[in-house]
Amino acid sequence: MIVATTIEDVRREVSAWKREGLTVGLVPTMGYLHEGHASLVDAAVKSCDRVVTSDFVNPTQFAPGEDLETYPRDFEHDCALLEEHGCDLVFYPSVDEMYPDGGGTTDTYVEILNDMPKQLCGKTRPIHFRGVCTVVSKLFNIVMPDKAFFGQKDAQQLAVIRKMARDLSYGIEIVGCPIIREADGLAKSSRNTYLNADERAAALVLSKAVFLGQSMVQDGEKDARKVVKAMTDLINQEPLARIDYVEAVDGVTMKNVEAIAPPTLFAMAVYIGSTRLIDNFAVEA
Ligand code: PAF
Repeated sequence: MIVATTIEDVRREVSAWKREGLTVGLVPTMGYLHEGHASLVDAAVKSCDRVVTSDFVNPTQFAPGEDLETYPRDFEHDCALLEEHGCDLVFYPSVDEMYPDGGGTTDTYVEILNDMPKQLCGKTRPIHFRGVCTVVSKLFNIVMPDKAFFGQKDAQQLAVIRKMARDLSYGIEIVGCPIIREADGLAKSSRNTYLNADERAAALVLSKAVFLGQSMVQDGEKDARKVVKAMTDLINQEPLARIDYVEAVDGVTMKNVEAIAPPTLFAMAVYIGSTRLIDNFAVEA
Protein backbone atom coordinates (compact mmCIF):
# COMPACT_ATOMS: atom_id res chain seq x y z
CA MET A 1 0.00 0.00 0.00
CA ILE A 2 1.28 3.44 -0.92
CA VAL A 3 1.36 6.04 1.87
CA ALA A 4 0.99 9.54 0.39
CA THR A 5 1.23 12.66 2.50
CA THR A 6 1.03 15.27 -0.26
CA ILE A 7 -1.67 16.19 -2.75
CA GLU A 8 0.92 16.03 -5.51
CA ASP A 9 1.81 12.40 -4.68
CA VAL A 10 -1.85 11.35 -4.68
CA ARG A 11 -2.46 13.05 -8.02
CA ARG A 12 0.59 11.39 -9.57
CA GLU A 13 -0.42 7.87 -8.46
CA VAL A 14 -4.08 8.28 -9.38
CA SER A 15 -3.24 9.78 -12.80
CA ALA A 16 -1.06 6.75 -13.56
CA TRP A 17 -3.96 4.43 -12.69
CA LYS A 18 -6.35 6.47 -14.82
CA ARG A 19 -3.96 6.35 -17.78
CA GLU A 20 -4.19 2.55 -17.50
CA GLY A 21 -8.00 2.85 -17.64
CA LEU A 22 -8.49 1.73 -14.02
CA THR A 23 -11.47 2.88 -11.93
CA VAL A 24 -10.82 4.53 -8.56
CA GLY A 25 -12.84 4.39 -5.34
CA LEU A 26 -12.40 6.87 -2.49
CA VAL A 27 -13.12 6.13 1.18
CA PRO A 28 -12.89 9.39 3.18
CA THR A 29 -12.19 8.80 6.90
CA MET A 30 -10.86 10.57 9.94
CA GLY A 31 -8.78 7.53 10.90
CA TYR A 32 -8.89 5.42 14.06
CA LEU A 33 -10.37 2.83 11.77
CA HIS A 34 -12.73 0.05 12.86
CA GLU A 35 -14.85 -2.61 11.14
CA GLY A 36 -17.28 0.07 9.96
CA HIS A 37 -14.53 1.74 7.94
CA ALA A 38 -13.26 -1.67 6.84
CA SER A 39 -16.68 -2.43 5.37
CA LEU A 40 -16.42 0.76 3.27
CA VAL A 41 -13.00 -0.30 2.01
CA ASP A 42 -14.35 -3.79 1.26
CA ALA A 43 -17.22 -2.29 -0.76
CA ALA A 44 -14.76 -0.06 -2.65
CA VAL A 45 -12.37 -2.95 -3.35
CA LYS A 46 -15.29 -4.99 -4.69
CA SER A 47 -16.46 -2.40 -7.19
CA CYS A 48 -13.34 -0.38 -8.14
CA ASP A 49 -9.94 -1.34 -9.56
CA ARG A 50 -8.00 0.86 -7.13
CA VAL A 51 -8.95 2.20 -3.70
CA VAL A 52 -7.77 5.38 -1.99
CA THR A 53 -8.55 5.94 1.69
CA SER A 54 -8.03 9.37 3.21
CA ASP A 55 -7.05 9.48 6.88
CA PHE A 56 -7.42 13.05 8.06
CA VAL A 57 -9.00 14.56 11.17
CA ASN A 58 -10.57 17.57 9.54
CA PRO A 59 -10.39 20.68 11.74
CA THR A 60 -13.00 22.68 9.83
CA GLN A 61 -15.82 20.34 10.85
CA PHE A 62 -15.15 20.77 14.59
CA ALA A 63 -16.40 23.82 16.49
CA PRO A 64 -14.32 25.31 19.32
CA GLY A 65 -14.89 23.18 22.42
CA GLU A 66 -15.57 19.99 20.46
CA ASP A 67 -13.20 16.99 20.48
CA LEU A 68 -10.73 17.98 17.71
CA GLU A 69 -7.69 17.76 20.00
CA THR A 70 -8.73 14.55 21.74
CA TYR A 71 -10.12 12.77 18.66
CA PRO A 72 -8.45 9.31 18.74
CA ARG A 73 -5.62 8.69 16.30
CA ASP A 74 -3.54 5.57 15.52
CA PHE A 75 -2.05 5.71 12.05
CA GLU A 76 -0.03 2.50 12.44
CA HIS A 77 -3.16 0.52 13.29
CA ASP A 78 -5.02 2.24 10.43
CA CYS A 79 -2.34 1.20 7.91
CA ALA A 80 -2.45 -2.42 9.10
CA LEU A 81 -6.25 -2.52 8.73
CA LEU A 82 -6.16 -0.86 5.31
CA GLU A 83 -3.46 -3.23 4.00
CA GLU A 84 -5.45 -6.20 5.26
CA HIS A 85 -8.56 -5.00 3.41
CA GLY A 86 -6.79 -4.32 0.11
CA CYS A 87 -6.58 -0.52 0.07
CA ASP A 88 -4.04 0.64 -2.55
CA LEU A 89 -3.19 4.11 -1.26
CA VAL A 90 -3.71 5.90 2.03
CA PHE A 91 -3.70 9.69 1.90
CA TYR A 92 -2.42 11.00 5.24
CA PRO A 93 -1.94 14.75 4.82
CA SER A 94 -0.92 17.29 7.42
CA VAL A 95 -3.37 20.04 8.34
CA ASP A 96 -1.24 22.56 6.41
CA GLU A 97 -1.25 20.34 3.31
CA MET A 98 -5.06 20.42 3.27
CA TYR A 99 -5.45 24.01 4.47
CA PRO A 100 -2.46 25.94 3.08
CA ASP A 101 -3.47 29.23 4.73
CA GLY A 102 -2.33 27.65 8.01
CA GLY A 103 -4.08 27.08 11.33
CA GLY A 104 -6.55 24.57 9.89
CA THR A 105 -8.84 27.24 8.50
CA THR A 106 -9.73 28.40 5.04
CA ASP A 107 -11.30 31.41 3.36
CA THR A 108 -13.15 29.21 0.88
CA TYR A 109 -15.92 26.88 2.03
CA VAL A 110 -18.40 24.63 0.30
CA GLU A 111 -21.77 25.02 1.98
CA ILE A 112 -25.32 23.90 1.26
CA LEU A 113 -27.49 26.94 1.83
CA ASN A 114 -30.89 25.30 2.34
CA ASP A 115 -32.08 23.99 5.72
CA MET A 116 -30.76 20.47 5.21
CA PRO A 117 -27.48 20.92 7.13
CA LYS A 118 -29.28 22.92 9.84
CA GLN A 119 -31.54 20.02 10.85
CA LEU A 120 -30.68 17.13 13.22
CA CYS A 121 -26.93 17.29 14.01
CA GLY A 122 -26.76 20.77 12.49
CA LYS A 123 -28.79 22.17 15.39
CA THR A 124 -26.02 21.50 17.92
CA ARG A 125 -23.16 21.50 15.37
CA PRO A 126 -23.96 24.51 13.16
CA ILE A 127 -20.64 24.62 11.26
CA HIS A 128 -20.15 20.87 11.03
CA PHE A 129 -21.57 20.15 7.57
CA ARG A 130 -19.87 23.17 6.04
CA GLY A 131 -16.56 21.66 7.17
CA VAL A 132 -17.54 18.19 5.93
CA CYS A 133 -18.62 19.51 2.51
CA THR A 134 -15.44 21.56 2.23
CA VAL A 135 -13.04 18.73 3.02
CA VAL A 136 -14.96 16.14 1.00
CA SER A 137 -15.07 18.43 -2.02
CA LYS A 138 -11.30 19.00 -1.65
CA LEU A 139 -10.79 15.23 -1.50
CA PHE A 140 -12.99 14.81 -4.59
CA ASN A 141 -10.87 17.42 -6.41
CA ILE A 142 -7.61 15.77 -5.32
CA VAL A 143 -8.53 12.14 -6.05
CA MET A 144 -11.22 12.58 -8.72
CA PRO A 145 -12.64 9.13 -7.93
CA ASP A 146 -15.31 7.29 -9.89
CA LYS A 147 -17.09 6.35 -6.66
CA ALA A 148 -16.94 7.50 -3.05
CA PHE A 149 -18.07 5.41 -0.08
CA PHE A 150 -19.74 6.68 3.11
CA GLY A 151 -21.42 4.95 6.05
CA GLN A 152 -25.16 5.18 6.64
CA LYS A 153 -24.52 5.69 10.35
CA ASP A 154 -23.89 9.34 9.43
CA ALA A 155 -27.13 9.44 7.46
CA GLN A 156 -27.37 13.23 7.40
CA GLN A 157 -23.75 13.48 6.23
CA LEU A 158 -24.48 10.98 3.47
CA ALA A 159 -27.55 12.97 2.34
CA VAL A 160 -25.62 16.25 2.47
CA ILE A 161 -22.75 14.81 0.42
CA ARG A 162 -25.15 13.35 -2.16
CA LYS A 163 -26.74 16.79 -2.51
CA MET A 164 -23.37 18.56 -2.74
CA ALA A 165 -22.09 16.09 -5.35
CA ARG A 166 -25.24 16.61 -7.42
CA ASP A 167 -25.31 20.40 -7.04
CA LEU A 168 -21.62 20.73 -7.99
CA SER A 169 -21.88 18.21 -10.87
CA TYR A 170 -19.07 16.05 -9.54
CA GLY A 171 -20.10 13.04 -11.61
CA ILE A 172 -18.96 10.80 -8.74
CA GLU A 173 -21.21 7.94 -7.64
CA ILE A 174 -21.90 8.31 -3.90
CA VAL A 175 -22.29 4.88 -2.35
CA GLY A 176 -23.96 4.51 1.07
CA CYS A 177 -22.91 1.44 3.07
CA PRO A 178 -24.86 -0.23 5.92
CA ILE A 179 -24.26 0.50 9.60
CA ILE A 180 -21.87 -2.00 11.19
CA ARG A 181 -22.71 -2.90 14.79
CA GLU A 182 -20.93 -4.58 17.69
CA ALA A 183 -22.31 -8.03 18.60
CA ASP A 184 -24.57 -6.44 21.23
CA GLY A 185 -25.98 -3.83 18.81
CA LEU A 186 -23.93 -0.68 19.47
CA ALA A 187 -23.10 1.03 16.17
CA LYS A 188 -19.34 1.06 15.55
CA SER A 189 -17.84 4.51 16.04
CA SER A 190 -14.38 5.85 16.73
CA ARG A 191 -15.98 7.83 19.57
CA ASN A 192 -17.04 4.61 21.39
CA THR A 193 -13.49 4.63 22.71
CA TYR A 194 -14.42 7.61 24.94
CA LEU A 195 -16.93 5.47 26.92
CA ASN A 196 -16.04 3.98 30.31
CA ALA A 197 -17.52 0.59 31.26
CA ASP A 198 -20.77 2.00 32.71
CA GLU A 199 -21.21 4.33 29.74
CA ARG A 200 -20.49 1.51 27.28
CA ALA A 201 -23.36 -0.47 28.86
CA ALA A 202 -25.63 2.60 28.84
CA ALA A 203 -24.82 3.34 25.18
CA LEU A 204 -26.77 0.24 24.21
CA VAL A 205 -29.90 2.31 24.68
CA LEU A 206 -29.33 3.85 21.22
CA SER A 207 -29.43 0.57 19.33
CA LYS A 208 -32.27 -0.68 21.56
CA ALA A 209 -34.26 2.40 20.51
CA VAL A 210 -33.41 1.71 16.85
CA PHE A 211 -34.55 -1.90 17.14
CA LEU A 212 -37.75 -0.85 18.94
CA GLY A 213 -38.53 1.71 16.24
CA GLN A 214 -37.78 -0.78 13.49
CA SER A 215 -40.09 -3.37 15.00
CA MET A 216 -42.93 -0.83 15.34
CA VAL A 217 -42.54 0.10 11.67
CA GLN A 218 -42.36 -3.56 10.65
CA ASP A 219 -45.57 -4.16 12.63
CA GLY A 220 -47.30 -1.54 10.49
CA GLU A 221 -47.10 1.68 12.53
CA LYS A 222 -47.61 4.64 10.18
CA ASP A 223 -47.45 7.54 12.64
CA ALA A 224 -43.87 8.74 12.96
CA ARG A 225 -44.64 10.69 16.13
CA LYS A 226 -45.65 7.47 17.96
CA VAL A 227 -42.39 5.79 16.97
CA VAL A 228 -40.34 8.82 17.99
CA LYS A 229 -42.17 8.94 21.33
CA ALA A 230 -41.58 5.25 22.03
CA MET A 231 -37.87 5.59 21.16
CA THR A 232 -37.58 8.75 23.28
CA ASP A 233 -39.31 7.14 26.28
CA LEU A 234 -36.96 4.15 26.07
CA ILE A 235 -33.84 6.34 25.94
CA ASN A 236 -35.10 8.48 28.82
CA GLN A 237 -35.18 5.39 31.05
CA GLU A 238 -31.37 5.26 30.89
CA PRO A 239 -29.95 7.56 33.61
CA LEU A 240 -26.63 8.15 31.80
CA ALA A 241 -28.34 9.17 28.54
CA ARG A 242 -29.30 12.72 27.58
CA ILE A 243 -31.13 13.14 24.30
CA ASP A 244 -29.88 15.72 21.81
CA TYR A 245 -32.57 14.75 19.31
CA VAL A 246 -34.75 11.85 18.22
CA GLU A 247 -36.54 12.75 15.01
CA ALA A 248 -38.32 11.36 11.98
CA VAL A 249 -37.28 13.11 8.77
CA ASP A 250 -37.36 12.65 5.03
CA GLY A 251 -34.10 10.81 4.34
CA VAL A 252 -33.30 13.01 1.34
CA THR A 253 -34.34 16.51 2.44
CA MET A 254 -33.99 16.03 6.23
CA LYS A 255 -37.36 17.77 6.70
CA ASN A 256 -39.52 16.43 9.55
CA VAL A 257 -42.27 13.99 8.58
CA GLU A 258 -45.37 12.77 10.41
CA ALA A 259 -46.44 9.89 8.16
CA ILE A 260 -44.03 6.98 7.75
CA ALA A 261 -43.17 6.12 4.15
CA PRO A 262 -39.83 5.50 2.43
CA PRO A 263 -37.46 7.35 2.53
CA THR A 264 -38.36 8.19 6.15
CA LEU A 265 -35.31 8.23 8.39
CA PHE A 266 -35.47 7.89 12.18
CA ALA A 267 -32.31 9.51 13.51
CA MET A 268 -30.98 10.28 16.96
CA ALA A 269 -28.06 11.86 18.76
CA VAL A 270 -27.71 11.02 22.45
CA TYR A 271 -25.10 12.07 24.99
CA ILE A 272 -23.84 9.19 27.09
CA GLY A 273 -21.96 11.05 29.79
CA SER A 274 -20.10 13.64 27.74
CA THR A 275 -19.86 11.50 24.59
CA ARG A 276 -22.30 12.31 21.83
CA LEU A 277 -23.31 9.23 19.82
CA ILE A 278 -25.57 8.93 16.78
CA ASP A 279 -27.62 6.08 15.34
CA ASN A 280 -30.53 5.73 12.92
CA PHE A 281 -32.62 3.51 10.74
CA ALA A 282 -34.17 4.13 7.37
CA VAL A 283 -37.59 2.87 6.32
CA GLU A 284 -37.04 0.65 3.31
CA ALA A 285 -39.31 0.67 0.26
O1 PAF B 1 -17.36 10.68 8.40
C1 PAF B 1 -16.21 11.13 8.60
O2 PAF B 1 -15.35 10.44 9.14
C2 PAF B 1 -15.89 12.54 8.18
O3 PAF B 1 -16.95 13.41 8.42
C3 PAF B 1 -15.40 12.65 6.72
C4 PAF B 1 -16.48 12.28 5.74
C5 PAF B 1 -14.19 11.77 6.54
C6 PAF B 1 -14.98 14.11 6.44
O4 PAF B 1 -13.98 14.52 7.29
